[in-house]
Amino acid sequence: MSPLLLCFEGRAPFAASLARLAGFEEAPVALHRFPDGESLVRLDARLAGRDCIVFCTLRAPDEILFPLLAAAYTARELGARSVGLLAPYLAYMRQDRRFNAGEAVSSRPFAQLISTHFDWLVTVDPHLHRYPRLDALYRLPSTVVSAVPLMADWLRRNVDRPVLVGPDEESLQWVGAVAELAGAPFVVLEKRRHGDADVEIAVPDIERWRDRTPVLVDDILSTGQTLAQTVRGLRAQGLAAPLCLAVHAVFAGDAERRLADAGAARLVTANTIAHATNAIDLTAPVAHALRTHLRRT
Ligand code: R5P
Repeated sequence: MSPLLLCFEGRAPFAASLARLAGFEEAPVALHRFPDGESLVRLDARLAGRDCIVFCTLRAPDEILFPLLAAAYTARELGARSVGLLAPYLAYMRQDRRFNAGEAVSSRPFAQLISTHFDWLVTVDPHLHRYPRLDALYRLPSTVVSAVPLMADWLRRNVDRPVLVGPDEESLQWVGAVAELAGAPFVVLEKRRHGDADVEIAVPDIERWRDRTPVLVDDILSTGQTLAQTVRGLRAQGLAAPLCLAVHAVFAGDAERRLADAGAARLVTANTIAHATNAIDLTAPVAHALRTHLRRT
């Protein structure tokens, strides 16, 4: 029997191409929200003896976490042989330390809940900063798919003479790797965050790159403030309008307007979260990672 890809209705436009490419059967997870805010999930497919993959990207994670755990729990109760999680975007990775006294280190309880309910996890470019690897945090077999090779391909095909710019040291792992594969120079700036949408970017003297197209590279584009401030800093030094290349299109609030106002030329993202800026399709490497996990179950 082919593996079953369980998708929350309306949350996974990526699922159809994945099911087609990997030969999985698709089945919906029906989700009803009661007037009091509780939710009810329903799995209509026959699950007995099946290997199940729950597809759930974790943008706005608080809304979907309980339904997600309930779906995994129910799949097992209904006889699934194994239940894995495909979360192309993995939430709560940035709160990886107690920045202020008394704060939750949210990445830990989140990881514990996921690790308890699933047999394995496949995700794309989690924000690993203070944790060296995903399995330093998640207690289940996991595979990290990297968007870097396809970002570098996109860059080679679409941008002439780029210079890559990482807005902060946390972006180094992405900007450095994309630059190496694309054969482009890169520079990493310094960021100070004062609040959710209040960041300061120190831009060194980079006028020597004036004849190149600046491409900002980051893993997550959320409020857009990090990239917007970087765009402003580069424009102030006379560089051309930068292109912004990010893996995860979180786009919280009015991020797009903020970036347009700052003078960004174009926004390009991977399809870990469905968004109009998606131009990098990760279906093939994700399908490959899933097949590897399923062979092991
Ligand atoms: C954190 O360091 C991440 O790599 C991103 O730079 C950050 O999440 C971007 O957030 P925002 O778009 O809200 O500035």
